[in-house]
Amino acid sequence: MTAPRKLAVIGLGVIAKFYLAAIEADPAFTLAAVCDLDEAALAAPRAAGIPGHLGHRELLAAHRDLDGAIVTVPNDAHAALCRDLLAAGLPVCVEKPLATELSDARALTAIAAERSLVLFTAFHRRYNSQVLELAAACAGTPVAKVKVRYFERIEDHIGQDAWYLDPARCGGGCVADNGPNAFDLVRLLFGESELSVVRAAITRDAAGLDRQAALDLVTAGPAPRRARVELDWSYPGELKDVEVTLADGRVLRSDLLAGHQGFKASLWHEYRGILTAFGATIERPAGRRDGGLAALDLVAAAYRLDRDDATHVFRPTAAEAR
Ligand SMILES: NC(=O)c1ccc[n+]([C@@H]2O[C@H](COP(=O)([O-])OP(=O)(O)OC[C@H]3O[C@@H](n4cnc5c(N)ncnc54)[C@H](O)[C@@H]3O)[C@@H](O)[C@H]2O)c1
Repeated sequence: MTAPRKLAVIGLGVIAKFYLAAIEADPAFTLAAVCDLDEAALAAPRAAGIPGHLGHRELLAAHRDLDGAIVTVPNDAHAALCRDLLAAGLPVCVEKPLATELSDARALTAIAAERSLVLFTAFHRRYNSQVLELAAACAGTPVAKVKVRYFERIEDHIGQDAWYLDPARCGGGCVADNGPNAFDLVRLLFGESELSVVRAAITRDAAGLDRQAALDLVTAGPAPRRARVELDWSYPGELKDVEVTLADGRVLRSDLLAGHQGFKASLWHEYRGILTAFGATIERPAGRRDGGLAALDLVAAAYRLDRDDATHVFRPTAAEAR
């Protein structure tokens, strides 16, 4: 049996616990070290015998035999951390969005390609059991249309630090933060087709944070297929679902949260899926195109359309917004 891969986890907030549990459950990996800027976050791992560091540079200096790193910090910190980890020669699994700036996402993708290093963006819904069932049910019939709804009250998802509510730190709001997951689902269901945003309506609050968005996308090529992504950060509760219309007229629906009782309960199995896929990508990197940059491209296009070209701005009717 090959030795387990030694991983470092950078950032120990809300989402880190799903990674830590996935690593614990998977004999192919071992947790070698953790890092957080907050000393208090290091107490539990240190008590369990895991070396904890206050900065990623200190971590890298102390652990020269790592096989990979997981970045699960606020969105605006992804790019700088990924750059340093790639510079250290490590395969990186980074939370979505890959970066808050498209130029950073491009630069990171280029560095990873130049150095033949894995840069893996963690789109957890790709590994959701309902999504996998839906994708299997679609197999063999072309997908004509996709609709993804991603509704939540963002305040329910905030940990110690309210960075999600700061447009500069989260990247803008629901489009920057939840958009990538929704776009990636559309890409998955359309067989990884290239997409573009054709209409965008984004509603912001007084702080400039986008709270709702209705986005229309089309696939590239001669017979464009359409997708609708609806996002809401002011929704009381949580609703995450996908509707697929197949070319033969069948309509299939999938509730991403079904079958998992409790807040964020589906994330346990989704993050086990991420870890397995990250390991498989380290093992066989050839041919895989990470969706992190493609998702950022769509985020940037949505903001550009909404901001610069009012003639393209799509205001959904009440019926369309439902
Ligand atoms: N919360 C969710 O529901 C959710 C779901 C999917 C993905 N994500 C993504 O996961 C990432 C983390 O989100 P979260 O909700 O866990 O955030 P969080 O605020 O709960 O945790 C972030 C942690 O990172 C630490 N940190 C900040 N800067 C750091 C740095 N430079 N080095 C080391 N540690 C640092 C913070 O001290 C904090 O403990 C984000 O990119 C987010 O978009 C979150």
